[in-house]
Amino acid sequence: MSTKGNYYITTPIYYPSSNLHIGHTYCTVMADAMARFKRLVGYDVMFLTGTDEHGQKIQKVAEEQGVSPKEYVDGIVDWVKNLWATMEISYDDFIRTTDDRHERRVQEIFMKINEAGDIYKGVYEGWYCTPCESFWTDVQLVDGKCPDCGRPVEKAKEEAYFFKLSKYADAILKLYDEHPDFLEPESRRNEMRAFINQGLEDLCISRSTFDWGIKVPLDEKQVIYVWLDALTNYITALGYPEAGDGIDQEKFDKYWPADVHLVGKEIVRFHSIIWPAMLMSMGLPLPKKVLGHGWLLLDGGKMSKSKGNVVDPQKLIERYGVDALKYFLLREYTFGQDGLYTNETMINRINADLANDLGNLLSRVVSMVEKYQGGHVHTPELPADEATINLDHSLKDLAVFTAKKVEGHMDVFAFNRALEEIWVLIARSNKYIDETLPWALGKDPEKAERLNTVLYNLVESLRIVSILIYPFMHYSADEIRKQIGVQDDEVVWTDAEIWGTQTEYNVVKGDSLFPRLDLAKELEALEALNKTPDVAEESDIAPSLGEVEAQEEIPELEKAAEEAIAAEVKPLKPWIDYEDFDKLDLRVGKIISAEPVRKSKKLLHFEVKMGAETRQILSGVAGSFTPEECIGKSVIVVANLKPRNMMGVESKGMILFADNGAKLGWVEADVADGESVS
Ligand code: MSP
Repeated sequence: MSTKGNYYITTPIYYPSSNLHIGHTYCTVMADAMARFKRLVGYDVMFLTGTDEHGQKIQKVAEEQGVSPKEYVDGIVDWVKNLWATMEISYDDFIRTTDDRHERRVQEIFMKINEAGDIYKGVYEGWYCTPCESFWTDVQLVDGKCPDCGRPVEKAKEEAYFFKLSKYADAILKLYDEHPDFLEPESRRNEMRAFINQGLEDLCISRSTFDWGIKVPLDEKQVIYVWLDALTNYITALGYPEAGDGIDQEKFDKYWPADVHLVGKEIVRFHSIIWPAMLMSMGLPLPKKVLGHGWLLLDGGKMSKSKGNVVDPQKLIERYGVDALKYFLLREYTFGQDGLYTNETMINRINADLANDLGNLLSRVVSMVEKYQGGHVHTPELPADEATINLDHSLKDLAVFTAKKVEGHMDVFAFNRALEEIWVLIARSNKYIDETLPWALGKDPEKAERLNTVLYNLVESLRIVSILIYPFMHYSADEIRKQIGVQDDEVVWTDAEIWGTQTEYNVVKGDSLFPRLDLAKELEALEALNKTPDVAEESDIAPSLGEVEAQEEIPELEKAAEEAIAAEVKPLKPWIDYEDFDKLDLRVGKIISAEPVRKSKKLLHFEVKMGAETRQILSGVAGSFTPEECIGKSVIVVANLKPRNMMGVESKGMILFADNGAKLGWVEADVADGESVS
């Protein structure tokens, strides 16, 4: 029963141009965990996901396959729904942009925005590839040629409808100022602000060179161009703008504005600039939050089958189970940041946290209750001495306070921290076994009551763990509850804050929750799996660092956004051994003087104090910093880099700077100069 109000959460609607990969799964798993968590703590949740099915790219893929676009997307959508069903993704609605309810409502929305005076007919200009009948923007061209067929392109124009996005620039900046939590993380907000400040152009919202889309109501020759069609899914699924049709307006009134749109970082701009502008034009309230998450990237930057990365979520699930995959995705990566996916990280995570910590705890406890107590434990009598009271309390106190800590982390979408907190309790419980030595108690009949107490406490702790992990891994939660004999079928979050809700337990040992995996064998098996034919082709899978899957184009926004992305994600270099890293001698240095170097536009000449020694170091940073602002900075120096001559001056060592591809920043230390960094 809901007591806390309504909560509306969405994922992006995915392009069904090919099967989804582990990156899409990541976003959906986070949304699902949040939806389940919110339901459990008492919200009435609406969780929406779906597919974004129109556009030139899909039309082309379908043509290549000799089927109609609808037939093509139907096949992929079945696959997607099947994946979500296997993972028991708890969405409340799945919207397809080809749903009649959506198409009809998008046309009405178009008319509403038109009535607000925000749509006009203009001319869209771009590079046209005649054989492909496609328009491309500057950034999409490859070596100045069509990115699809490699043939020459020519400048061309077509009539199209535009949305007056520029009109809303100030209102959006004001939105960021007045409601900073509208867009998080903060770094994205700063990027968007900078983007708007460069000047916002109006947005082309229709096309006439292909027809796989929703017809512009004013003009049968044009179809609505993707982002107006796509973004509006968040409200058409709630029944906006009409009532009736089985979905009543009540749903819209109940859940809109959305609490959070969860989106990948490359589509933050559409959600935090175009979407609020459209809503403002319609006179609707704005979503409370747009939250941009990072990407899962693949080892060495580029995904390649030969590297043995299996990124088809179905295959990972078949081998390790839904909960292991979900746990790994939620625990391994930090929300908002990019993370590297490797098979090895996944196997290690499963072994360490799931097999060793959680799996072992359950099997040890259940085995001991069966062995020493005939499968039964009951509420303990009061323990005799202070030492045991303290010991038991240290477990109980941690157990009953963990739920609040988890809530705190979930409030800020820190899934990894929430799970970390639960694993502190699991580790504490394992340690409690080592401290209380039940096998020793079992040998002494006089310690029978103490043995019951110890085992009861452990079962209680497992009951609490089963509640806490429920939003993240409900299969395992159910299995734990079954094995320890929890009587209540319903998982109640607040029961995690109460010690001793059940006075007796009858445990029944079951299968091992997470059998330990042999790393070498698994890596080999995954590599073999990767070579099997139904693995997604390279073009279907996660974009590697610096590589964004070709999205539908947004001429007005895309160039700067592409630049921002290119600047932000630099390909990771290959792994190095610790021995390689250990060769570096890093020291803290203080810049005590800084001067330009004659005849050089790039170099600055620094005197850097490192403890007793002062060095001269030349750095190519004159484009980023004035000499004055450098003096007094505490920096990190690669102290054993071989001296080099630059412009006739010897430079001894190198100062480290942050480099986002566009500009440099300081990497500062706040310890005394001369200290070593390791
Ligand atoms: N159809 C648009 C979204 C419209 S929402 C109104 C779209 N679709 S997409 O299929 O290309 O991407 C959907 C989401 O998947 C994006 O948020 C994107 O960031 C995410 N991911 C795609 N690859 C990813 C990773 N490798 N890692 C994490 N998320 C990734 O854009």
